[in-house]
Amino acid sequence: MSDLLAAATTARANAWAPYSRFAVGAALRAESGRVFAGCNVENAAYPLGQCAEASAIGALVAAGERRIVEVLIVAGAPPPCLPCGGCRQRLAEFADDDTPVRVAGPDGAILLETTLGALLPHPFRLRPPTALASEPRAAADRLREAANTLSPVIGLVLGSGLDAVAARIETVLEVDSRDLPGLPVPAVEGHRGRILLGRLAGVPLVCLRGRPHLYEGHPPAAIARPLRLLRALGCRIVVLASAVGSLRPDIGPGSIALVSDHLNLFGINPLVGPNDDRIGPRFPDLVDLYDPALRAVLRAAAASRGVALAEGVLAGVLGPCFETPAEIRMMRVLGADLVGMSMVPEAIAARHGQLRVLGIGVVTNLAAGLAPSPPSHAETLAQAAAAADRLGALLEAAVPELVRCP
Ligand code: HPA
Repeated sequence: MSDLLAAATTARANAWAPYSRFAVGAALRAESGRVFAGCNVENAAYPLGQCAEASAIGALVAAGERRIVEVLIVAGAPPPCLPCGGCRQRLAEFADDDTPVRVAGPDGAILLETTLGALLPHPFRLRPPTALASEPRAAADRLREAANTLSPVIGLVLGSGLDAVAARIETVLEVDSRDLPGLPVPAVEGHRGRILLGRLAGVPLVCLRGRPHLYEGHPPAAIARPLRLLRALGCRIVVLASAVGSLRPDIGPGSIALVSDHLNLFGINPLVGPNDDRIGPRFPDLVDLYDPALRAVLRAAAASRGVALAEGVLAGVLGPCFETPAEIRMMRVLGADLVGMSMVPEAIAARHGQLRVLGIGVVTNLAAGLAPSPPSHAETLAQAAAAADRLGALLEAAVPELVRCP
């Protein structure tokens, strides 16, 4: 039995429902992972009782939590007991439209699985004015208000040590990820968590300086949110740049490498959970995920500037450990040339939302077992910083062509 189901079932057993005789338990998972449960509490002025969802929300908010990522309700036998209109709106104050809502019967069997968005008619989609709202569109609106003259077409995601690329951007607005409710905030040294609107080589773009990683403990779906923000801001192309290790001695530290394809070895996927059909299909295909035409543009830009550009398959791993030498040998057999702890789930989320993807790895080290000294985060940061200016120059040359690329 899942922790949510156990909590909702226990709460239901304590429900105070002497008037309706219909006991309900609800359990909510907060973004921190903590679970809060509640039951319905009736009184003699029935039907002015309190719903189980409202009780659970009260407990969650009183504990200082502000975001709900999963909802489970346990009630009587079918038909499934959906949240009432008031509770749907209560949930919407703290949850995204894609938040899963499951309803179980008394035996724990799931009777219905949906999302909060699917339960909310338009009039219920009002958001509080102070941006407790947490879906990417709310963040997009705030950014859009502040930079209403810019129509960004490219999103640029910069990872560890690649800040020097951002220095080339003519900034219109820079905000902290923390000021945009609903976005996971990067927590690793070298990942700043800033969002910048501006122009690179005259091309309007949004740059995410720093990215959240799954190894920080974010739920997989949270990794999709920055990509959905870029999409909501109007971006149609996303350039994902990150530090990577190389499995090929001929692609040494300091190299810049196009990602041609990937092996998802994370064991998880940012699209797990209910699908939001308004963003993309349930089963997106990943053929040519790393857009061949955009790659050709980058190759041409590199050739014209005399910048060496490698290319290879990226193995995406959860981290945070660097790999063992045996794992690296395994990945080599599987066909990987590069290895990294970000990019792959972002590329999947981008594809789901019909963004064209360009993946660029900055090689910071030879992977475990291939160099005399083991890989380290300090080395990653230092090598990425050393290559960042070259990457910035390359992107400056390529970006005007990328936006013209059919
Ligand atoms: N492994 C995984 N991720 C990395 C590496 C590595 O060797 N270097 C930079 N990111």
